[in-house]
Amino acid sequence: MGRANLAGGPFQWKSCDRHVPSRPPFQGKSRAFCRVRGPELRPKARSRTLRVSNLGSLTAPHRFCLKSAETTLRPVHTVHDDIERILISEQEIRAGIDRIALEITSAYHERDFTVVAVLKGSCVFASDLIRRIPVPLELAFLAASSYGKGTTSQDLRINFVPLDSEIAGRNLLLVDDILDTGRTLVRLKREMLDRGAKEVRTCVLLDKPSRRSVDFEADFRCFEVQDLFVVGYGLDFAGRYRNLPYVGALKTAAFERLQGAR
Ligand code: XMP
Repeated sequence: MGRANLAGGPFQWKSCDRHVPSRPPFQGKSRAFCRVRGPELRPKARSRTLRVSNLGSLTAPHRFCLKSAETTLRPVHTVHDDIERILISEQEIRAGIDRIALEITSAYHERDFTVVAVLKGSCVFASDLIRRIPVPLELAFLAASSYGKGTTSQDLRINFVPLDSEIAGRNLLLVDDILDTGRTLVRLKREMLDRGAKEVRTCVLLDKPSRRSVDFEADFRCFEVQDLFVVGYGLDFAGRYRNLPYVGALKTAAFERLQGAR
């Protein structure tokens, strides 16, 4: 059960204290064992999610010991299991970010500017992006969310904006996860200019031009995507999947399961 994925995956480890000898040779040798045999594993709390990551470094007796424990392992459902297909891989994202980081660097290399990350969707993208821009910059956050549920962006609520002192007279680079209808960035850009920003440019990880309902283009964009709801690398559905390291399309079953759970 779960043997094929053992070296890489998270498992739910059920009641395996029965199988793990408590003799000294095994003590403290592997993270998994330490935690399994820790004081928290009382009969009432026998189910623990553990990452068995250091299997390769175990010595033979430990491997033997782990094998017997494997009989009680079963794979946990992970976010990867809900992905129909990967649209933009981790490597592609890295290359895309490197490309626009260069563009941004040359656009701002002699001017002070502030990256304004639009939460929550751009948090992963923005934090990777700023680390590839070697010129001085400041960082600020803005939170915006759409009213309504589902997979289409609707009316926008701006939950908070940076301090006026972070906006007034500044060159701002608004960083968002995806440019869809365009309404969010049009609205946020206008808001920043109304609050006294000197200049506002925009940067997005993904661009869905086929969905545009207003006349707007981002100044910097990494990838164009077709009209398909995507998750991962900061983008969510029902609050989940932001932690996927790639951008992918969700399985229909996952949509239905999460929609049903709301
Ligand atoms: P607009 O339409 O204003 O929308 O350009 C931008 C916001 O809508 C959300 N959005 C998505 N979120 N997968 C997502 O996880 C998508 O395919 C998608 N399309 C739009 C997102 O919050 C974005 O900031």
